[in-house]
Amino acid sequence: MSQITITAEKIHQMEVNYRRNLINDLPSFKSPHLIGTVNTKGITNLSIFNSIVHIGANPPLLGFILRPLTVERHTYENIKTCGYFTINSVTEQLMERAHACSGKYPKGVSEFIMTGIKPAYSKIQPAPYVEESPIQIALKIEEEQAIKSNDTRLIVGRIVEIRIEKEMLSPKGYIDVSKHKILTGRGLDQYFTVAKGKRLARITKDSCLLI
Ligand SMILES: Cc1cc2nc3c(=O)[nH]c(=O)nc-3n(C[C@H](O)[C@H](O)[C@H](O)COP(=O)(O)O)c2cc1C
Repeated sequence: MSQITITAEKIHQMEVNYRRNLINDLPSFKSPHLIGTVNTKGITNLSIFNSIVHIGANPPLLGFILRPLTVERHTYENIKTCGYFTINSVTEQLMERAHACSGKYPKGVSEFIMTGIKPAYSKIQPAPYVEESPIQIALKIEEEQAIKSNDTRLIVGRIVEIRIEKEMLSPKGYIDVSKHKILTGRGLDQYFTVAKGKRLARITKDSCLLI
């Protein structure tokens, strides 16, 4: 193996697209999701995000990183005014249409209509789900944290409803993502299907090799 060393100075001097590709690709796989929202006029919005993170299970919290507010951010505006959003898994079948949701459509133009992705609704909150997503999660905005280093924000939501295809959910609460060809991804333009993973036993005090 021959290694390349890239210094902070070299990173700073990189051509902008090269640096974006490299830094986006570094953290390996990140799964794309579609975030569904609605504005005060009832116009829906759907955008693709790959920075979804688990914050905690009790209370059940998920978060995502939002880019700086240097341009209109419809997902963010809608979450702030409506209070709810949905996070929907992306399947192989949805791939091209989901990717198209990264486009900058004018305010008032719904990505659901532009891409032909069908919304679905539940009685308990107003944000649209993606009907064909096998995992649909609704969240209520809980808090946002400013990340001072680059003006991004961590948006934290509390899960208020989960709708999931029955055959994916195991009796122990695990989810089998290989069942519906749910995608993971790299950077901003590469998508992969995943094979069934291997589950290892939890490391406890008794099984820990260091004790
Ligand atoms: C694969 C992929 C992942 C993305 N992930 C994020 C993300 O995590 N955070 C973000 O702010 N934008 C992300 N984007 C960009 C948004 O999809 C894009 O800015 C979109 O236009 C936002 O739409 P909105 O203004 O309707 O919210 C991603 C784009 C792609 C293609």
